[in-house]
Amino acid sequence: MSEYKNLIKAAKEPLKRAYAPYSGFKVGAAVLTKTGRVFAGCNIENASYGLTVCAERAAVFNAVSAGHRNFTAIAVVTSGKSIAFPCGACLQVLSEFAPDIKIILASSAGRKVVTKRLKELLPTPFSL
Ligand code: THU
Repeated sequence: MSEYKNLIKAAKEPLKRAYAPYSGFKVGAAVLTKTGRVFAGCNIENASYGLTVCAERAAVFNAVSAGHRNFTAIAVVTSGKSIAFPCGACLQVLSEFAPDIKIILASSAGRKVVTKRLKELLPTPFSL
């Protein structure tokens, strides 16, 4: 999995800054653009729980805000041992910009790395 070693490393960086006082579940994500740029984000919770933003969306919004919309891969790193699959909302947001993005899942303490394609996790995204 050395191909995405750096992207996983980049996702671990914002993991330290995850704001998760309610769930205690910290997540970091980093998207890779076609031009080789990397944009990262962490989950940001809110006392009004439904306003929480996942790390994946924070990373994508960070990239889009900087003018980058073409993504080839996203790494998602959770704190603890187990990996987590992105939620449906994040998969839908990813599908907007990168319909077949590679999704690399890792955890800080575990050694397992899982790679999926967006189409495997969300075969039928909503589109207008
Ligand atoms: N979370 C993410 O950031 N990404 C995921 O893929 C799943 C869930 C966050 C949202 C919330 O802050 C915490 O994990 C628990 O649901």
